[in-house]
Amino acid sequence: MKILVTGAAGFIGHHLCEALLKRSIEVIGLDNINDYYDVHLKYNRLIELGISSNDAEQWNSKTISSKHGDKFSFVRMNLEDRNELPKLFKDENIVTVCNLAAQAGVRYSLENPESYVDSNIVGFLNLLECCRHHQVKHLVYASSSSVYGLNEKVPFSTSDNVDNPISIYAASKKSNELMAHTYSHLFGMATTGLRFFTVYGPWGRPDMALFLFTDAILNGRPIKVFNHGKLERDFTYVGDIVEGVVRVLTKPLKNRQLYKIYNIGNNNSVKLTDFIQAIENKVGKKAEKEMLPMQPGDVTKTWADVDNLIQDYDYRPNTNINDGVGSFVKWYRNYYNI
Ligand SMILES: NC(=O)c1ccc[n+]([C@@H]2O[C@H](COP(=O)([O-])OP(=O)(O)OC[C@H]3O[C@@H](n4cnc5c(N)ncnc54)[C@H](O)[C@@H]3O)[C@@H](O)[C@H]2O)c1
Repeated sequence: MKILVTGAAGFIGHHLCEALLKRSIEVIGLDNINDYYDVHLKYNRLIELGISSNDAEQWNSKTISSKHGDKFSFVRMNLEDRNELPKLFKDENIVTVCNLAAQAGVRYSLENPESYVDSNIVGFLNLLECCRHHQVKHLVYASSSSVYGLNEKVPFSTSDNVDNPISIYAASKKSNELMAHTYSHLFGMATTGLRFFTVYGPWGRPDMALFLFTDAILNGRPIKVFNHGKLERDFTYVGDIVEGVVRVLTKPLKNRQLYKIYNIGNNNSVKLTDFIQAIENKVGKKAEKEMLPMQPGDVTKTWADVDNLIQDYDYRPNTNINDGVGSFVKWYRNYYNI
């Protein structure tokens, strides 16, 4: 079983590669290492996977072997590249694809909507075409809790209406689900969309709350608290997410519908103020808070109903906020030597 993981230099992607490699599954990682946030963090994640920065910098469309063993290789490529992506599928015997590469982030989608269409729509279509023409058995892809838009019914269920996205990011993720449905229907392709709910943990994204808050508190800057703190999120520890994704990737497909969508969250909505308190406790310092109004494109509350994932994959997230935030703060202090 050879799995292509796109977004392998990203936060979730690099954790997923590590988890698959621990199970001795052969993995090809793909990423364009774009500069949406600090590229050093992306290069350093790849070093954890045995890929040197010198090697990762190259755009030569060849897979680079990991120094840690022959189960992992990496290729720097754009999903939008309509010439090189099909060649990769032709050269490698890819059986399963996990698409985590995307332009992420709700707020940035108000500034640079084009990058969301390029990576998340054009890139995703290219991937679907490659899967179609190279007999890929299963495409698993990252969707997002943001597809629920202004949904007020909680917890969010995959049977709820998701026709009202409120950011281009959310619209691009909902489009992925529609495109996957079309390919499952037309070409008999098994696809599984996973709606991730606010993922956090070591090696996390610098544009997300936990990273921003920890960084600000440790460096004596105020933290920006939107909607005056009246926000709630289903914060999900990256280890729990990855365990769920591995289960979806590795379970045999027989007797299942071709098109599936699941929520993957912690099944517990936490107040932002409690989350901040957990960070303060782990950092050992009080935050100076700058209270601000609601951000356009943001939603007030998320909460995942994960019953279907429990039923079909025995998914059981078990990391509480204190432990998860503690792991992040420990990683952050060590990484930045603070
Ligand atoms: N982290 C979360 O809380 C969260 C929540 C919901 C959904 N998601 C989704 O999960 C996936 C992974 O998120 P993440 O937090 O690890 O983000 P990330 O930004 O750390 O990782 C995404 C990676 O994809 C790469 N990439 C982007 N566009 C590309 C392209 N066109 N071609 C090749 N590579 C490209 C980036 O360089 C990056 O390394 C994304 O699809 C994201 O939308 C994440």
